[in-house]
Amino acid sequence: MGTVTQIQEIVDNLYEKYKDIQDGEVATYIPELAKADPNDFGICLATVDGQIFTAGDWDKEFTIQSMCKPFAFQMALERHGRDATLERVGVEPSGDAFNSIELHPKTARPYNPMINAGAIAIASLIKQNPVDAGIQAFVERMEQAAGRKLRIDEDVLASESATGHRNRAIAYFMLNFDIIDPEVHVALQQYFSQCSLLVNCRDMALMAATLANMGTQPVTGQRVFDFQYIKYVLTVMFTCGLYDYAGGWAYEVGVPAKSGVGGGIFAVVNRQLGIGVYSPRLDAQGNSVRGILVCKELASHLGLHAFEFTNVGSSFMQWLL
Ligand code: DON
Repeated sequence: MGTVTQIQEIVDNLYEKYKDIQDGEVATYIPELAKADPNDFGICLATVDGQIFTAGDWDKEFTIQSMCKPFAFQMALERHGRDATLERVGVEPSGDAFNSIELHPKTARPYNPMINAGAIAIASLIKQNPVDAGIQAFVERMEQAAGRKLRIDEDVLASESATGHRNRAIAYFMLNFDIIDPEVHVALQQYFSQCSLLVNCRDMALMAATLANMGTQPVTGQRVFDFQYIKYVLTVMFTCGLYDYAGGWAYEVGVPAKSGVGGGIFAVVNRQLGIGVYSPRLDAQGNSVRGILVCKELASHLGLHAFEFTNVGSSFMQWLL
């Protein structure tokens, strides 16, 4: 993939190239998110052997938002297994917006765990009694993946909870079909809290690298995720992670990824590296404009696309050599 200096140069050049792009709008539907500085822009790459490359506002904290969804899905799979989890949520791309109020016409399941409906169903599966225990379990797992202490942004949590009526409607809609149990407020509190976790680009890159590294955190060496479920998580990220841009993303960038309305986006290059980008100006689909630009260019520059013929990082190829 190149020397350490070459990779740092690539990251620095990407930052310089895109730092003045002002397209897109900061999310405002959760009033607290509107306070983000639209100019913030950070990039981090973390390799599976623990090397870290950063540029710009890589240490600026923002809320994880929908980027919590793959990790919550992983936790549900670990706790309930594949079949019980799939009774509550499908794995089909919906082609619709992240907040669409829509369940599968035959099964009544949400289409996938990356849209809000699916993520609320998953939150219902990983919640605990009392509610704080389930939230704490999620935060602790995220801390292990990031390799540092994390905290919830209480202002964003209050703001999301105060305005989250659409998510409440989705949750009660699912209760009507027995997709979630009657502890609806607990599931929602779990979901809102997950979304309000503060992270930075380095955290996201390391969380991504932990998935890329079969569940072991590259810097601390801690086994964080059960590797037998990671392939399912990466698959739904690949097909559904960018909502109604998921197909375009898979085509152009070709690696599993997830975005959040806080402006973060993270991508997993299996067995190689994790990428975390933060830039709060979003496009019409709710994805970070500069985040997408950076990932696209990194993928083409380093040959990261899953079906890239020159994908020199393919672990299978390396293993064969
Ligand atoms: O459910 C919500 O509205 C948010 N807390 C999370 C949404 C989100 O990040 C969607 N992603 N792009």
